[in-house]
Formats: sequence, structure tokens, C-alpha cells
Amino acid sequence: MKISYMLSKDVARNMIVVHPPEPRKDLLLSRPAEGVYLGKTRFLGTPVFWDPSKLINPHVAIIGITGSGKSYTVKTFITRASLIWNSNAVILDWVGEYNNWVKQAGGRVINLSKEKLNILDLVGLPKHSRIKQIISAFDILADLKSFPQERDEIEDALENIYEKKRKPLLIDLVKYLERKNRKRAARLLKRFAAEGSDFFGGKSTLDIKKLTNSGLVCVDLHGLPTEEMRSLAGLTILQYIKEFMRAEGMTEDSDRRVRLFVVLDEAWKIAQDERSDVITILREGRKYNFSIIIATQNPTDMHKTIFSNIGTIFILRLILKEYRDYVRESIGYSDFVDGEISRFGVGNAAMNMIFSKRQTKVSTFLLDRIDGEDPLFIYKIRGGKMDVEIEREQFIRMLYELGLNESQLEIVRKEFEKKDGVLEGEKVVEILERFGYSKSSIISFLRQLGFEEKNLIRVFSLVKMRKATKGVVNVVMEE
Ligand SMILES: Nc1ncnc2c1ncn2[C@@H]1O[C@H](COP(=O)(O)OP(=O)(O)OP(=O)(O)O)[C@@H](O)[C@H]1O
Ligand SMILES: [Mg+2]
Repeated sequence: MKISYMLSKDVARNMIVVHPPEPRKDLLLSRPAEGVYLGKTRFLGTPVFWDPSKLINPHVAIIGITGSGKSYTVKTFITRASLIWNSNAVILDWVGEYNNWVKQAGGRVINLSKEKLNILDLVGLPKHSRIKQIISAFDILADLKSFPQERDEIEDALENIYEKKRKPLLIDLVKYLERKNRKRAARLLKRFAAEGSDFFGGKSTLDIKKLTNSGLVCVDLHGLPTEEMRSLAGLTILQYIKEFMRAEGMTEDSDRRVRLFVVLDEAWKIAQDERSDVITILREGRKYNFSIIIATQNPTDMHKTIFSNIGTIFILRLILKEYRDYVRESIGYSDFVDGEISRFGVGNAAMNMIFSKRQTKVSTFLLDRIDGEDPLFIYKIRGGKMDVEIEREQFIRMLYELGLNESQLEIVRKEFEKKDGVLEGEKVVEILERFGYSKSSIISFLRQLGFEEKNLIRVFSLVKMRKATKGVVNVVMEE
């Protein structure tokens, strides 16, 4: 009797050891119409909902190595939030990786290398306020604080050109400085107004207000020629969003449904700096129901103030100890959790949530897996002037009916994924030929996909040309 009692006590103790505590269920659970479902906790299997009315603020950070699932988490989050609250989202996309997804989800992609953004636009602000903002952007990007004299000169020049011109441009500012023989000051700014890169050199074609209330919008910055230009555009748009947020005023919404998500993926330059408006939006966003979602591979790029102002943090796989230590210092968790983070697979996550009712000691816990929804994936096959679009699963089914086996299907899928879902018709033909399909069966397959005759001819002649040049190259190599 005594022995069995002791045994069960031992077992009970071990149970506590093998399974680290998780937050109380009522904090995690929520009605599907009130919170974003994210997945289940690893040990108790409690469904986890993100409900901003229970959290100290609506901001989110996502940290993890490349391929760990950051963008996937962002997409899942935004998709579900827009279903529940009709929230808008603006994604500042540094590398152009949200493009296709946003288009497929019915959102708008704004290609900044094709639009114009006059960073001297007043956007309804008094001159002196806008001048302050512009100077603060250059403080961050051109390190103006280290050049106090030039900083004064630039401020002075800004005041002057606003007097002279109703809608001055950045290049006017640079020219003014040159005319006044303020060469060093001019040089500091010139790289943002370089020849051939006139993104900041015209009347703005971007309607910032529209950006913030048009559902899902991706601002694609990757076409801008330099990291500095991307950062200047990103910072400027954030400044506008901040002004817009303040002008809109606070909401009476007691449910705290998020009005706008501002997504920064790999925005290291503007997240690193305490002066950037990332911080202002973080600090004030709660009042206005504006939420920042910030994703990064390198947590040390994120200013400590950012960490301390974020209510929800996802830690995906992190290998470098230095990065894990940085995160751990900021939010704190056990050795066990630390070890798990270094071993995570894709989609596994540790989550840190700070609830507004301070009733729980546990704020970091393990999520079995971020249970996202794979978006409807459209493959595109390029052929001549016409692209054929087809839903991924349907395409795979058709290939299966054509007779491809599992490993061949996987090869096709990989090829498409490597190219972000877009493949040339010639490449598809080449792969099928490699699998042993005859020209006539490939042709009838392409017809079935919706290829027109003239495009079929084009695709096959390209295949021929490709083979021919390959031969030539081989011959040259052999010689
Ligand atoms: N929770 C998940 N469940 C299923 N698949 C996932 C999950 N998370 C990520 N994936 C898949 O893993 C791949 C990599 O994910 P993702 O692009 O989100 O990584 P990332 O962290 O943003 O990488 P990078 O830093 O290179 O941008 C994608 O193909 C994605 O669909
Ligand atoms: Mg990503």
C-alpha cells in the first residue's frame, strides 16, 4: 500500500517535470469569432487563440531562422484576422516575397519602383512638423546626428524651399544646398536622389490613406535599387501611417478589434533604431487599434524597446546561441524551452504572450505547430503571350492521371516552388520529356491545360533551341 502510494507520488512528480506549465486555459481559449486560432499547446493540447482584448497590446514579433515559417505565420495571422475583424493590412515587403500571395488573396500589390513617392509631401501636416520627420528619417539613414552642422544646414534648406515652392522635391533640396555651397550637406542626401532613381523625385502617386483602408495591401520595396532607398521609403510610409493613425483618432471598440496590421518583414534598418516610427506606432498603436507585426531572422536587429513593447512573440527555430540568449534575456524562459527552440522543425514555435490580467506566471509556452492554412496555390505556366493558371492541387491531379509517380510529382512541385509558382512552358516540357513522355502526349496534356496552338509551337521551338545551344556549349567544353 505504502509502496504504491509512493510510486504514484513519484509518477506525479515526474509528470510535473516532463511537462512544463502552460498558461491557464481561459486565457488561451476564445470563441472563433473573437480570436485568431494559431494551433494547440504542445503538452495539454489546448487550442490557442490570439485575442487582443486579453493582451496588453496587439503587437506581434516573429523570430526564426530562414525557412522556419515566419512569413507563413504572418500570412495565417492576417488571413484569419481579416475574416474575423475585417482588418486591413499593409505589408512593407523588403524582398518581394509576399507579392504572389497577396495577389492570390485578392489584395493589391504596389510596386514602389513603378510608383512615385515624394518624401517632401506635407500630407496635411504643418511644415515644421513634416520637416522634423524628414530630419528624423535622415538621422536614421544618413546618420545626420554625427554631422550637426550639416544637419542644421539641411533643416534650414528645408524651411527655405518650402517657402519658395509649394511642392518641392528631394532633388530641389539637394540643388538648393549645392547652390548655397553646402557641399557636404548636399553629398549626404545626394545618394537618395541619385540619377536614374527618381522614385522620390516626383509628385506622389501613392495614396497613403487608401493604403490603410483597402483590405490587404503589399508595398513591394524590392525593386528599389539600394537598401537605403528601401529604408527611406519604408520609414516615410510609416511616418504617414502614424500621422494617419493619430488623425483617425481612438476607437471606442471595447473588443479591441485590430483596424490595421502593419507588417515589417526583415526591416532591420528601421527596426533597429529607437527614433523610427516603428517605436511610435508600437507605443501608441494600442489606443488606436493599430498593430505592428515584425518578423526577423536576427533578433539582435530589433531594438530592446521593441521587445519590451510587444505583447506576443513567436520564437521559431533559432540555432545561434547568441540570438537565443538575446531573446531569452528579454522575455525569459526555461533551459528546456531554450533547448527545444534550437531543435524546432518548420512551424514549431514557442510563444510568449503577456496578458493584461496579470494572473499567470507562465508567459512562454510551446505551441505544437502553427496550424496555418495553406493558401489556395495557383501555378502559372508561361507560354508565349499567354500564361496558363491552374490551382496547384488540380495540376498535380492531372499529372497523376498522366501517369507520373510520387517522386516525379515531387520533382515538379519543387521546380514550381523554386520559381515561386511560375514556370516556363519549355521547362514543363523538358521535365516531362525527361520522365519519358512522347511529344504527342505532352502536346495533348498542354492542350488539356488550355494552351493555344500557336503557343504550343512557340514552346516546342524554344525547347529545341535550348537543346541545340546545350549541344554547342558541350562541344565547346569538350574542346
Ligand atoms: N506551420 C507551418 N505548417 C506548414 N508549412 C509551413 C509552416 N510554416 C512554414 N511552412 C512552409 O515552410 C516554408 C518556409 O516558410 P516561410 O517562407 O514562412 O519561412 P521564413 O521564415 O519566412 O523564411 P525566410 O526568412 O527565408 O523568409 C514554406 O514553404 C511554408 O509554406
Ligand atoms: Mg519570409
